[in-house]
Amino acid sequence: MGTDMNGIELCVFDAYGTLYDFNSAVARHRAAIGAKAEALTGMWRDKQIQYTWLRNSMGAYDKFWQVTGEALDHCLVAQGIAASDVREKLLSAYLALAPFPEVPAALDRLKGAGRRLAILSNGNPEMLDPMVRASGLADRFEVVLSVDAVGVFKPDPRVYRLVEARLGVAPDKVCFLSSNCWDAHGAAHFGFRTVWVNRMNAPDDGLPGRLAAQIKDLSRLPSLLGIA
Ligand code: LAC
Repeated sequence: MGTDMNGIELCVFDAYGTLYDFNSAVARHRAAIGAKAEALTGMWRDKQIQYTWLRNSMGAYDKFWQVTGEALDHCLVAQGIAASDVREKLLSAYLALAPFPEVPAALDRLKGAGRRLAILSNGNPEMLDPMVRASGLADRFEVVLSVDAVGVFKPDPRVYRLVEARLGVAPDKVCFLSSNCWDAHGAAHFGFRTVWVNRMNAPDDGLPGRLAAQIKDLSRLPSLLGIA
């Protein structure tokens, strides 16, 4: 990994798992779900992401909201969770996921130091916008970009191209941040200077794309970018 992060104008964040904690949906309804809550939250995320990759391979895009519901349906059956209101509760909670605790202060420091901030997510605008608003962070971001504009999911390069097309910033002036190692590699392979937010202390994936740096959470980002 090389850590030269000079000249970064724009920080672009993945949403789910990087800024917002998708586990907070299941956590909010742990009592209604019961003993399988832990297994459900991990499986739901894995299936959701697998379905995006499979849909990319099939050329069968549909909105992330649809994919998230289909993944949940599979997981509820697989985990034997029959309570009829759990599906609706979890999907509603997905529209108001909690940001990770260090996120607001880190964004404020970056913005205060003149960095432009944006989100680039698999989520469709109808699910991203309410979540960002509910978290009180909407004014931190210049724009919330969605793969829905190109009809294909990450890590297809057409997604990462949206940043220059919409914001006019060349890829080498962009710091892209994702907690999803595969997304980080996709973004680095595309040409962004990419930081993997390795919240789970996981081993690196053997994928193309050289990561610029790895941090545990976003509290480390300002100093990585040379912001005192
Ligand atoms: C996103 C998923 C990949 O927000 O976390 O794009």
